Amino acid sequence: MPRISIAPMVDITDRHFRYFCRLLTKKSVLYTEMITSNAIIYGDRKKLLDFDPFEKPVALQIAGCDKQEIVEAVKIAEAWDYDEINLNVGCPSDRVSRNQMGAALMAYPELLAEIVQAMQRETKKPVTIKHRIGIDGTNVLPGSLSKVVFDQYEDLEHFVKILSEAGIKHFIIHARIAILEGLNPKDNREIPPLRCEDVYRIKEAFPGLFIEINGGIKTIEAIKEHLHYVDGVMLGRVAYENPFLLTQVDQFFEGGRINTISRREVIEGLIEYVKQFGEDKRKGQQALKNILGLFHNKRGSRLWRQLITPPWKEGSYAGEVLEKALYMLPAEVLDERSNI
Ligand SMILES: Cc1cc2nc3c(=O)[nH]c(=O)nc-3n(C[C@H](O)[C@H](O)[C@H](O)COP(=O)(O)O)c2cc1C
Repeated sequence: MPRISIAPMVDITDRHFRYFCRLLTKKSVLYTEMITSNAIIYGDRKKLLDFDPFEKPVALQIAGCDKQEIVEAVKIAEAWDYDEINLNVGCPSDRVSRNQMGAALMAYPELLAEIVQAMQRETKKPVTIKHRIGIDGTNVLPGSLSKVVFDQYEDLEHFVKILSEAGIKHFIIHARIAILEGLNPKDNREIPPLRCEDVYRIKEAFPGLFIEINGGIKTIEAIKEHLHYVDGVMLGRVAYENPFLLTQVDQFFEGGRINTISRREVIEGLIEYVKQFGEDKRKGQQALKNILGLFHNKRGSRLWRQLITPPWKEGSYAGEVLEKALYMLPAEVLDERSNI
């Protein structure tokens, strides 16, 4: 059974954005931002982990490097009703990889296998991993490793084999290697070339595993094409650059259909949602921070962005800003619906 998901994205996929996505797609799995095991153990858990049941299904993404800490974080999160626990093995950030978290963990599949086995013991939910097709860790990874470049298909296959033997049944694979030094995270999402064939080959080699592809997928046609070869597609940046596209993705789920909600109805849904923030401007701005793409490539797009982007007029608040948008934006774009 295929699935579509919305990728974990720091500073984007907070609960407000997930609520917005859920208005657009009823079935996609929505990921949290990456939350470190440390933050879950020592931080404000309610703030980090609470979500609205309307957002479900929701997957929690954890980043960490210490087995005990990750296990502790999984135990804590068990009290929240997440549908899946995902371990981040794909983040190339220096801050993350110096601690051997994120993509750097790909160099240690056996250690990772121990971590995911321990995670699975602490939760009834499926444990999944999100990783790259490989890493170039030259000069970064310490220890006795003589080989720190894992960028061949065979390395990836070995990695998936070890992790599948540790009980992982669902792999989300960003079809690029991560270069752990010299590229910032943004460049690491663009410069290493996409190698989708490697992900397809993994599905061929392990037909019993659920293989979900990620990286550079921006259209319905591209999703259709990938689903000939793999089980799922994870969408990242397109979800905030062109969120109205999400009204079309439920068709890929068994029994799913295109969501015929209009932009006007999405905005009305948001007006209801932001009522909880009343006239608290700061919270309202936070709630509307990542919805700027709703009119992507449509008439009114600039006006929409201008209306939503702070600073707002003295005394105005989120509900009012959205009402004004309904009044000012072109009716034919507000009332447009995706065709069934
Ligand atoms: C702003 C931003 C933040 C991201 N944060 C995370 C994260 O927290 N965890 C993670 O696994 N990947 C993160 N990513 C990577 C995405 O999940 C995804 O793998 C990547 O953007 C490629 O998919 P795309 O081409 O569809 O955007 C982030 C990407 C962006 C653009």
